[in-house]
Amino acid sequence: MIQSRAYSTGRKQLQSILAKQIEEIKAAGTFKNERVITTAQSSTIGVKDSPKVVNFCANNYLGFAGHPAIREAAKSAIDSHGNGLGYDLLSYSLLFPAISDTASLLSDLESTISKFHKKEDTILYPSCFDANAGIFETILTENDAVISDALNHASIIDGIRLCKAKRFRYKNCDMADLEERLKEADAAGARIKLIATDGVFSMDGSVAPLDKICDLADKYNALTFIDECHATGFFGKNGRGTPEYFGVEDRIDIINSTLGKAVSGAAGGYTTSTKEVITLLRQRSRPYLFSNSIPPAVVGSAQKAFELIDTEGVQLRKQLVANTNLFRSRMAAAGFTLKGENHPIVPVMLGDAKLASDIADEMLKRGIYVIGFSYPVVPKGQARIRVQLSAIHTTQQVNEAVDAFIEIANSKKAKL
Ligand SMILES: Cc1ncc(COP(=O)(O)O)c(C=O)c1O
Repeated sequence: MIQSRAYSTGRKQLQSILAKQIEEIKAAGTFKNERVITTAQSSTIGVKDSPKVVNFCANNYLGFAGHPAIREAAKSAIDSHGNGLGYDLLSYSLLFPAISDTASLLSDLESTISKFHKKEDTILYPSCFDANAGIFETILTENDAVISDALNHASIIDGIRLCKAKRFRYKNCDMADLEERLKEADAAGARIKLIATDGVFSMDGSVAPLDKICDLADKYNALTFIDECHATGFFGKNGRGTPEYFGVEDRIDIINSTLGKAVSGAAGGYTTSTKEVITLLRQRSRPYLFSNSIPPAVVGSAQKAFELIDTEGVQLRKQLVANTNLFRSRMAAAGFTLKGENHPIVPVMLGDAKLASDIADEMLKRGIYVIGFSYPVVPKGQARIRVQLSAIHTTQQVNEAVDAFIEIANSKKAKL
């Protein structure tokens, strides 16, 4: 009896603490209402109460989320290997001889990814969030240092929090500041110095200056880690991402990326690097050892997607660049303030959180699906609508989106 009374008091206390926090989020106007998507992912989708809208807020950069050949590959992987392995990787290694077929499905994809990025070896995870959670703690100790861009993705920040290395943070893409932090890491006697950055910053559509970062890494004998979630498959001439864009493919030491965006749009992540890094991750990385392994459907679809990146991808990347250029140039000419450059993530800067969400609502009424982002996802006073172009948008759809932005901004007399 005493126990259950204590439990219920604790439960009420938690409820009231959480309810207060939820009210605070609502009062600040930053409560996120999730929209219900009622169809498969494509350039047009259905959302609840709007059966057909043009979708400008997906990471479906190449349109692979609904690609027929990729869907078929997922189905055939289920047919041959079932829904999943039904165990985490710790059991996987113990059971290895009994599941060699399944292992080969996974290791074939790992080889494909290693070749794609020109690295020695690869390890798969259920998500890139897991890959980022596993990497820093596994390879760095208290004798080492990690020097991290201030705007890095939350999963990189969390991964770094888990490791014991000394932490240094440099201002977003600021090379003078990065150099100062490298000097500090040297002065602190760091053994390994690892620079960690997103290849592309997902809220800004801006690209990390990897050529300059690599020069500094060479100068200070540091290593480089990049997160390529918003680049793999579609950015750079052959879709090899930010390192290809800057011509520094052989100068990046560790790449983490996702299979859940341009590559098949489902889920899954990986680390690709040297044999030693990957071997140690297989021994020590906690999200790898203590979580379910990536399911066959995801492996099958990703394998197919990597094949298509090199074939159909050539034309799709051209179309994606054309769509991005059209949207960016027309919006800039209309007087909108845009962030980033040369990337299909195009943040339309509006400043005020309510204005951003009002414009997104108006766009939806006109059949264009975009989302307003505000604090805490982006800094206070920098609310925006983040538009994401895809290769499967038609020119007409891109023009319609720009026209809608212009009309709504004019009707609101918004200061752009
Ligand atoms: C830059 C970046 N890193 C990591 C992730 C996490 O990827 P995943 O969805 O595979 O966990 C995301 C996804 O939002 C991302 O944008």
